[in-house]
Amino acid sequence: MNQDIQIELSGIEKHYGAFHALKNVNLSIAKGTFVALVGPSGCGKSTLLRSLAGLEKITGGTLKIAGEIMNDVPPRARDIAMVFQSYALYPHMTVEQNLTYSLKMHGVARAEAKRKAEEVAVITGLSGLLDRYPRQLSGGQRQRVAMGRAIIRNPQAFLFDEPLSNLDAALRVSMRKEIRALHDRLHATSVYVTHDQVEAMTMADHVVVMRDGIIEQQGRPLDLYDKPANKFVAGFIGSPAMNFIPAIAGEDGKSLTLDLGSVRQQIAIDHQIQPGRKVTAGLRPEHIGIGNQGQGSFDVPVAVVESTGSSTFITAATMPELTIVETGRGTVQAGETIGVTVDPAQVHLFDEASGIRI
Ligand SMILES: Nc1ncnc2c1ncn2[C@@H]1O[C@H](COP(=O)(O)OP(=O)(O)OP(=O)(O)O)[C@@H](O)[C@H]1O
Ligand SMILES: [Mg+2]
Repeated sequence: MNQDIQIELSGIEKHYGAFHALKNVNLSIAKGTFVALVGPSGCGKSTLLRSLAGLEKITGGTLKIAGEIMNDVPPRARDIAMVFQSYALYPHMTVEQNLTYSLKMHGVARAEAKRKAEEVAVITGLSGLLDRYPRQLSGGQRQRVAMGRAIIRNPQAFLFDEPLSNLDAALRVSMRKEIRALHDRLHATSVYVTHDQVEAMTMADHVVVMRDGIIEQQGRPLDLYDKPANKFVAGFIGSPAMNFIPAIAGEDGKSLTLDLGSVRQQIAIDHQIQPGRKVTAGLRPEHIGIGNQGQGSFDVPVAVVESTGSSTFITAATMPELTIVETGRGTVQAGETIGVTVDPAQVHLFDEASGIRI
């Protein structure tokens, strides 16, 4: 066995009665890796995490932690700690008591527990707050207590289930940096569930995209962005989402005719496909250039313009609609017709029927 593999899932199945929640899940997590599980609501992220923790019993496959089969090992004996979305702090206990509760349950002496609580408070930025009660803390501080409670046991791995979803947007951004920094400092192995693909992309070394109990693709964040294995992953990773346009390959197999309703446009592609093949072309909004630059350029009518100041989202009134992102305030008005340009190297191609990348 490869000793660097900390968590190994082989052919994991989970049935809740007749419902098939996890289907042949295979995943190897190297020691020290930060893995994000991402996917739409109900795809099985929490089920997979809870199975790792031992809170759900898997109905098939093998789960190994540090080389040992864990299928029937109870949660307490798995030496992994879980941090939840609802922090589940004990309201009648101080921060220190919350932090040391699990140590006391394991018979650690009072003085030793206190020393560890102080150490963890330094790591998590809670020094000076040890005597407070949860109600006297901000949301971010409570989240840190929840993390401190996991850290104090010095587990083999940390499992996070949407730990930041109760926090406001600004705090989420700073906490995700904190969690990642903590992971690095502790040389931890972490599995982090989120349905926020930005969180997954920015925090993780390895992203696992799930749908309906299946792993659709896994890999390094930017590899998923650059080479999505199918339409689902292509549409899920990246914001605003990739545009999908029905298209047909030209006679030479090196061009495509995009079917945008009233606009039918031939564009070049940078690899050869079967002439006449029906495909779905994927164009990321940030990869469509504005302005008519000759070859590969075409005109589209603008329906909506939305600016956030730093970037401008343009919706073209084509069928299907085309979303285009322009950096900055933007130069385009609704009602105008604009020229757009597609770089052949930035066109993703998917099989029309299966959605698999070509
Ligand atoms: N105890 C249970 N009994 C029956 N079905 C369940 C049970 N727990 C979860 N499920 C079902 O399994 C599927 C996966 O649920 P899970 O909680 O893992 O999804 P999730 O990806 O974490 O979603 P979310 O993003 O909404 O938290 C869902 O369809 C859910 O209804
Ligand atoms: Mg969940």
